[in-house]
Amino acid sequence: MSSLNSLHFKYLPMSMRVLFTMTLLVFGTGYLMAMIQVWENHANKDGDPMLSGKDLMIAYSGNPDGTKLETALRGSMSDMLPPEKKQVIIDWLHSENSEAEFETKINPILQEHCVVCHSPEANPHLPNFTSAEGVAKVTGKDEGMTIHTLVRVSHIHLFSITFIFFIVGFIFSHAYVRPTWFKCLVIAVPFATLITDVASWYLTKVWTGFAWVVIISGALMGMSFAIMWAMSIWQMWFWKVPANISDNNGRVPCLHTEQ
Ligand code: HEC
Repeated sequence: MSSLNSLHFKYLPMSMRVLFTMTLLVFGTGYLMAMIQVWENHANKDGDPMLSGKDLMIAYSGNPDGTKLETALRGSMSDMLPPEKKQVIIDWLHSENSEAEFETKINPILQEHCVVCHSPEANPHLPNFTSAEGVAKVTGKDEGMTIHTLVRVSHIHLFSITFIFFIVGFIFSHAYVRPTWFKCLVIAVPFATLITDVASWYLTKVWTGFAWVVIISGALMGMSFAIMWAMSIWQMWFWKVPANISDNNGRVPCLHTEQ
């Protein structure tokens, strides 16, 4: 018997195929959740409900025409208050944002709808709307995600996604795929796009066009995941070995003939 990763699924014990299948099922669900999360966080930043390059430009490099508060009100925070109150805040942001008006019109809305979450007791990581300085942090020009946030998110992203694609790629390495370069490409692409994706978050701050690299990287990563997922499940459980590639016993050849 040659080493484990040079065997086709059909040579693996049932227990191992069950392990692989269950892992893929959970990762598949996780991937869907991750997509929903990206959508919820980014899709509506430019006021249009579709996810677009503009949304990502705003997320990473900021919105030159707006403030963090307006971006949030049009995006992830839009369900936190009734639309007419939202408009009052946006109008105020577009006026001279006078202090007097803040106290009479704006602050009461924040106190009623926002401080349940936006206070140091509720969540120390969110802008604190119980103080004027806390509010000022989101009424200045929107510069997008801070480098500090990006560094935090990128190290988590790089480590955790590498694990996922190591495991999925390892499972998929047991599939019979020709040409071999295509199989290798599908395994390699997620790692390459992980780097271009994370790098573009930073580069979008320098040139907003890099938002498209984020989108293309994400699409290629998703495509590789889908191919590896579907081919692994298919070959593990449903695949009939074609006669021209099976050996004398009518089984798939070992993959160690891969060039
Ligand atoms: C249920 C809890 C909750 C309520 C209520 C809430 N927020 Fe938030 N808010 C969050 C969380 C969590 C985040 C961070 C994640 C995100 O951006 O979605 C956030 C982020 C924000 C941000 C972006 C901060 C940044 O640094 O980019 C702004 C601005 C904001 N909220 C404004 C508001 C306003 C205005 C209201 C009231 C109309 C409000 N929030 C109500 C939980 C809440």
